[in-house]
Amino acid sequence: MSHDIVTDAQRIAKATHTRFGEAIQAPAGQPGADELRRRVEHSSHRKWTGQAVDPALLKLLFACALSAPSKSDLQQADIIHVADRTKIKAIADFIPDMAWINNAPVFLVFCGNNRRIRQIGEWRGKPFVNEHLDHFMNAAVDAGIVLASFIHAAEAAGLGTVPISAVRNQPRETSDILELPDAVFPVAGLCVGYPLERGHVTARLPLDVTVHTDRFNETGLKEKIDAYDQRRHALFPLRKQRHANLYPDVEFNGWSEDKARHYSVPERSDFGAFIREKKFSLK
Ligand SMILES: Cc1cc2nc3c(=O)[nH]c(=O)nc-3n(C[C@H](O)[C@H](O)[C@H](O)COP(=O)(O)O)c2cc1C
Repeated sequence: MSHDIVTDAQRIAKATHTRFGEAIQAPAGQPGADELRRRVEHSSHRKWTGQAVDPALLKLLFACALSAPSKSDLQQADIIHVADRTKIKAIADFIPDMAWINNAPVFLVFCGNNRRIRQIGEWRGKPFVNEHLDHFMNAAVDAGIVLASFIHAAEAAGLGTVPISAVRNQPRETSDILELPDAVFPVAGLCVGYPLERGHVTARLPLDVTVHTDRFNETGLKEKIDAYDQRRHALFPLRKQRHANLYPDVEFNGWSEDKARHYSVPERSDFGAFIREKKFSLK
């Protein structure tokens, strides 16, 4: 960033240009511009200073996260603070390519919890007749919103984070380590700590791909993705060709080539079976 970029509005324009290929201007005098700037400058972090996170701050961040909206006020998201380092190591051992889990000062697992509402029904002598896919999805979405809210609050406090969906690679083991009962399931882990390095703004698809007006619109999608691949490659070229053992080398290894390769190999195809074992029919 050049030294003369100082205001939130200038930083928003710079970050959105990198992110979306379009410098988005904050309206003059926009309230909350510093918060908006922090959002567009978001980056995940995977390296930490040794600095511990103050337990009082952590508790405040839990409060911020769990102040998020909740579907029908059902409050179906829980956070497991994995404070026992042997448990963090046990989870991290299943995910050997992510050293940042074991190194993180704080490790959390965000869970969907459909158990409480079932218990409450029993205690109140009412039938529970909403065991279907939407019931599962409500808790998963609530947990995702709480996760995002935690991330935003943590970033405002100067912390860095990275979510970890890899806790679902071995969902039964994660569940056993954390003693998750029926109808409680892991959505994502979260590493939290003071970042060792400045983050960088990663490029996303342009807003005219992911924001639609009045109707779903895929006009020019392939060309837009090609252009995104080129823009992203110019900023951060991918170092490795994914699944090089399965596919011949390509001259241009863009985001879409990488993602196509990524999802050409099954990932967590057993998760549905795990969720059904947790007493969800998903019907
Ligand atoms: C639900 C979710 C799960 C994720 N799981 C992992 C993970 O298991 N390991 C990891 O290193 N990063 C994980 N990430 C981080 C993404 O890789 C990261 O957000 C993405 O590459 C974009 O980078 P940015 O957050 O710096 O913009 C996850 C992110 C989300 C939202």
